[in-house]
Amino acid sequence: MGKWVEVARKDDIAPDSATCVQVGDLRIALYRIGEDEFYATDDVCSHDEASLSEGWFADRYIIECPRHGARFDVRTGKVVRMPAAYPVRTFPIRIDGDRIFVEVNEEEVDG
Ligand code: FES
Repeated sequence: MGKWVEVARKDDIAPDSATCVQVGDLRIALYRIGEDEFYATDDVCSHDEASLSEGWFADRYIIECPRHGARFDVRTGKVVRMPAAYPVRTFPIRIDGDRIFVEVNEEEVDG
């Protein structure tokens, strides 16, 4: 079952940047696109486990992995440039005022 977990405040992430949050055993990359769009994916690159939140935007919705340059669409998790072959997981986001929530599976988090 899905569980919504508060992970950050909007102001924790500058526009057009990313940050990493820990939810249970999950490392999740949170992206802020412009002022008001937020997305979340696995922070762990599907190629060789680099941290996607330490990457940079190659285009508006495209994060580039800092290690070997694979690119992912943060909206879908899909690979748009090799060497990654597999997508990264995405997480639903909910914004409540200034607070950002991410939906994970209940069994992935304590309590
Ligand atoms: S670890 Fe991300 S492209 Fe290799």
